[in-house]
Order: sequence, then structure tokens, then C-alpha cells
Amino acid sequence: MDHSEAPVLDALAAYHREEQLPFTPPGHKQGRGADPRAREVLGDAVYRSDVLAISGLDDRTSSNEVLERAQELMADAVHAEQAFFSTCGSSLSVKSAMLSVAGPGEKLLVGRDAHKSVVSGLILSGVRPIWVEPQWDPDRHLAHPPSPAAFAARFREHPDARGALVTSPTPYGTCADLAAIAAVCHEHGKPLIVDEAWGAHLPFHEDLPTWAMDAGADVCVTSVHKMGAGLEQGSVFHQQGDLVDPAVLKAREDLLGTTSPSVLIYAGLDAWRRQMVEHGHAVLQDALDLASDVRAQIAAIDGFDVQGRDEFTGPGRSHDLDPLPLVVDIAGLGVTGYRAADRLREHHRVNMHLADHRRISAQITFADDKETTGTLLAALRGLRAHIDDLRGSPTVQVPPPEELRLELVVLPRDAFFGPAEQVSASDAVGRVCAEMLTPYPPGIPAVLPGERITAPVMEYLRSGVAAGMVVPDAADSTLDSVRVFIEE
Ligand SMILES: Cc1ncc(COP(=O)(O)O)c(C=O)c1O
Repeated sequence: MDHSEAPVLDALAAYHREEQLPFTPPGHKQGRGADPRAREVLGDAVYRSDVLAISGLDDRTSSNEVLERAQELMADAVHAEQAFFSTCGSSLSVKSAMLSVAGPGEKLLVGRDAHKSVVSGLILSGVRPIWVEPQWDPDRHLAHPPSPAAFAARFREHPDARGALVTSPTPYGTCADLAAIAAVCHEHGKPLIVDEAWGAHLPFHEDLPTWAMDAGADVCVTSVHKMGAGLEQGSVFHQQGDLVDPAVLKAREDLLGTTSPSVLIYAGLDAWRRQMVEHGHAVLQDALDLASDVRAQIAAIDGFDVQGRDEFTGPGRSHDLDPLPLVVDIAGLGVTGYRAADRLREHHRVNMHLADHRRISAQITFADDKETTGTLLAALRGLRAHIDDLRGSPTVQVPPPEELRLELVVLPRDAFFGPAEQVSASDAVGRVCAEMLTPYPPGIPAVLPGERITAPVMEYLRSGVAAGMVVPDAADSTLDSVRVFIEE
């Protein structure tokens, strides 16, 4: 295929060149009606290219197949049979993928370290999750992706499960053994879905962890805006093989998706694919070299424990690691990641990707260079110099792994939509939760609708909130009270 083409960008350029005149949405009419103060901040280019997909980018019947051609090029670039663009993030793509494999009441094996969008998919669909346990590192307080053996065991217990879903890479860059998990699924004739939201760049460099399509997965979901250069919300899901019908996948996406997709986001996806095919290997090589250099420099800062392969991979841990997210454990300094991240933004105008009770993480992409990482390093050194200012702030009571896992006693959908009441945190202990309680980031729910709340988990979350953890999906984000299911 001719990867120098970019059908969406080309069609957009033609739209401008031909001076097409819209009597259609968007009502700002290419910015002519937009508030000048908004134009000043956003730039005229945003409005100018924010055009309707049908009777705009393409004609009324989409006879130019602009989107289809762009999707075919994307599939070809990443070794998939089909690619589908989505403008609602992987949050929507992952739901479409799940619904194409299992329906209401049917079982799906799901790694319990799933993102909250997977749990939303369970709630909306009524799919019954069969949880597959991650591999917990009790010393570092981190969940590594579930092992292939864990998936095999769950398939033996639930041979009627319709398929499996695993998250890889995780937001920490840790990766599952996708080829082995795909083999387990295929032994049972069942499809594997990979939530690869953090892996859009993986197909384009051999030193990065294996890309799900190369590992034999049936469907994978990527957020091109995360590790790639798409605009926010730009997501693509990919399909191969005959275990998931692409027509079903498309129909499920149609059920959930918007009828007004953003052409700006489509253009960002199309541009990314061309850029990666033409220059991906070289720019990712630069990013890998840069990340390796920055890792070494952070490790030289006293008390900054950079997490690499030695810490994150090996037996009982992850199969592989994406080295571009730079995860730094600062527990030894007696400071939470929350306070460190807040200081970095306030004093150095440097924003961390991820902050948890003991770590901060800086995401490096091919868009970084010595100048941006120089600022990062200076900020981290500044943080270290003033670390005493942050000591003494509240700490988080993290229970041992076995106490973090809650029993699912009601289907997530039934608990979410069933009768519920708001009760105090102490009264919530022993009750079935009716909402998701998700520390964000990374966005993996600590408590799901349908799980019975225990004292250690409540203590963990409440001490977390006191220390700076954000739980945005709770009805009461202070966690003084919790929404619980009213059991018969
Ligand atoms: C593992 C994982 N899956 C899915 C998503 C949802 O992706 P998006 O933000 O593109 O909707 C995220 C977002 O952080 C994620 O971390």
C-alpha cells in the first residue's frame, strides 16, 4: 500500500482548497461564528478543520471512502486485518471489543487490573466477569499483569467463558506474555482482547515489547493520543483472525459511538500512521536512547529508585517492560508520589503522568528531546533538594495483597443499577458497593459495584484521599460516605 498517502488529511486539504461552504454542523462554520476570545486561545486552525465527516470531509454517501482508505492503511501499518478509528478514546473501543465477544449474562475472563472503562463495559453489558488475578509484588505494592497459567486455570474452571481480556502495557509500562495468553485462549477456541491503550507505538520498533497483533491476539485497542501523536480521544481498535467477526465488532462500535465523529481526531490518527511508517523506527530509536540516558541520570539522584527490568520483570512479575515510562519509586524518601507531583507542578511547572502512594512517573515519547528532559531532570533535582519540606505529610495505609482483593457477590450491573443508599464510610464496611472507587491515575478501580467492602480497603482509600489520592468516580469523592447496594 502507498503509505505516503493520508486520505483524511488529503480530503481535508481538498475541502479547504475547493472552498466548500457548509450549511451543516458544526455551527461555528469553520470558526466564522466562534467567539474571538476562544479563537485566540485555540487558534483558527482548530475551527477551520473541524468539519462534518459526512457532507463535509466526504460526500453524502461517503463515495470517496476517505475513512475506509485511512483505516485500511492503518491496518496494513500495524499488521492487523482490520482497523477501526474511534473518536471516543479507548474507553469506548474497549467496550466495543468486549461486546463483540460476550453478551449479557455470558462470561469473560478479565485481568482484575483492568481500567475502569472495562468495568463500565461490564456494567453496561451485564457480562459476567471471571477475574484473573494479577501477580502482586507485595514489597513494591504493584500489580503485574496476570500470567498465562492464571488464564489457563480460569479457562479450566469456566470452559464456557466466551474469551479473555488482558491489559498490556499497564500504565506503568509493564507487559503481559501476550503470545502465551493468546495460545491459551486459542487452545480453547476463544478470542483474546488486549487493552493496549498504552501501546500505540509498539508496532514500530523491535526493541519495544511485542505488539498484540504480532503476538496473535484477536482484537486490540490502542489510544493513539497516549504514547502516540494522535489528538486526545484518538483511539484505534484492530482485529485479525476468524474468532471475532469484524462486522459484529463494527456494529458494536456503532451502538456506542457518536454520530458526529471529530474529523480533527481522524486526521490525527491518519497523520500518525503515515509518520510512523515513514519515520517511526528512527524517532523511536531516539526516544529509547533518550529514555535510557534520562533513566541513568535520575538513578544518580539520591533516593530516587528508577524502576526498570530488574525491578519489574522476571518470575512472578511482568513478562516485559516498555522503557519509555520512567517510573521512580520515592518511598525510601518518606514522601508520597502525590505530594512530589504537586510540588513539581507548583514549583517547576513540570507535570508527571502518574503519581501514586510511593511513585511518580514521567512519560517519555519521541516528542521529547534533551531540552524537555533537561527541564525534567532539573525539576527532579530541585524536588530532591527540598524533599524535607514534604516529609511528615500523611501516608497511605496499603494492606497486603490478599486484603486488597474483594469478593464479588453481585454482578457489577445489578449492583450499579439496583437499589442503593449513601452511608457513612464506617457503615459501608461489610456492605456491597454500588459504585466504582477508582484512584486516578492509574484508573484501576480498587472497589467495583458488586464487591463487598472490607475495613482494610476502606482504610486504604480513606488514608489515600487524606494523603492526596483522587477518587473522582465516587459520588462522595471525600469518601466520608459511600454508595452501597441495598441487599434483600
Ligand atoms: C489501560 C487503559 N485502558 C483504557 C483506557 C481508556 O483510554 P482513553 O483515555 O483513550 O479513553 C486507559 C486510560 O487511561 C487505560 O489506562
